[in-house]
Amino acid sequence: LSGFKYIVVGAGLFGTTVAERIASDMGLPVAIVDRRDHIGGNCHSVTDADTGIECHVYGTHIFHTKRRRVWDWITQFTQFNSYRHKVLTRYDGRVFPMPINLTTINSFYGIDLAPSEVEAFVLAEAARDRVEEPANLEEKAISLVGRPLYEAFIRGYTLKQWETDPKNLPAEVITRLPFRHSREVDYFTDPWQGIPLGGYAEMFKAIHAHENIHVFLNTDYFAVRDMIPADATVIYTGPVDRYFENRFGELAWRTIDFEREVHPVSDYQGTSVMNYADPDTPWTRIHEYRHLHPERDYKAGGTVTFKEFSRHAAGQDDPYYPVNTPADIERLEQYRQLSETETNVLFGGRLGGYKYLDMDTTILAALEMFDEKIKR
Ligand code: FDA
Repeated sequence: LSGFKYIVVGAGLFGTTVAERIASDMGLPVAIVDRRDHIGGNCHSVTDADTGIECHVYGTHIFHTKRRRVWDWITQFTQFNSYRHKVLTRYDGRVFPMPINLTTINSFYGIDLAPSEVEAFVLAEAARDRVEEPANLEEKAISLVGRPLYEAFIRGYTLKQWETDPKNLPAEVITRLPFRHSREVDYFTDPWQGIPLGGYAEMFKAIHAHENIHVFLNTDYFAVRDMIPADATVIYTGPVDRYFENRFGELAWRTIDFEREVHPVSDYQGTSVMNYADPDTPWTRIHEYRHLHPERDYKAGGTVTFKEFSRHAAGQDDPYYPVNTPADIERLEQYRQLSETETNVLFGGRLGGYKYLDMDTTILAALEMFDEKIKR
């Protein structure tokens, strides 16, 4: 690393975007170190050995954006397929569209409302419980959609996702529960959406192919930090608390465990992601990756699924979703202030900022960091 003036920690989307800009816009060499044995961070994909189906190792990733700058940047390296994401949820032995829409409501209640009738119906349902000043997430949700829809679609899923009864979560977590008056089932409304045609692994390979980009895998920043020249600029996309040796305490994360299963059928659940809303089903979702590539001619007679289980992250667990308790928010502010005093180190990405970021937001933040703080 001794010859590099720019060193990026983390080969995920944030680090990759910054490195690509340094390599092509500034025309300078840049090193990327990542502790994992692959590039792409949490967007990484692999071809399943048994079925030949491309799997997203860290959970389903659908690219979607309304930002032209992001779209123009990413499409230099990949084309996207025509996949449009739809989420279904299984509750009490039946399947419903999510987010809650006209079809969900009609089929849940066994009625036949028109779009113009749904608002008044939901308001009347909500009014039955007469929650005036919601004191917690449960009361807030009931005040917005009524108890039956809350108990079916929100209570169990929230309990599993956060291991906390919604009664013990703050009301402010939701300001408005989106339910659709139409039968629209597309999960995202962005003009540009899809899955990279060749998959995420190939997309990252194409970006990293630039001759100025030098990748060092299986390399933990903290093991090599002493080799970094004092005048080099470091772009750090690892966990911010770890950078400062957890001086103000650890920031809390949720992690995910996946259970891979191969089934001897061509289609296991008829969709890419099925949520499980019943509290007594231990998993939160099942991902079936073959559906993400309708354009591919995958072999019939075999499909692979990943069952997703959510729990509190501890020790070496991969961080997935920031918990954001009031104590976390306070700690984060302390880390943020400290990181501003660090010379020659820029912090970014979902781990460096302790923030859930969609892929397009990640790219935009990285492009802006490059423009404002790196480009000379
Ligand atoms: P990312 O975590 O990808 O990369 C950070 C890298 O830093 C990692 O590779 C890590 O190994 C490395 N690192 C950390 N510490 C290090 C150290 N000490 N030394 C060396 N390397 C170190 N977004 C979207 O738009 N559509 C979607 O459908 C989804 N789906 C989705 C599902 C799930 C379950 C999650 C949790 C997230 C999503 N996302 C998403 C969000 C998406 O994953 C996110 O935008 C990107 O991964 C962010 O990229 P980063 O580079 O910030 O982090």
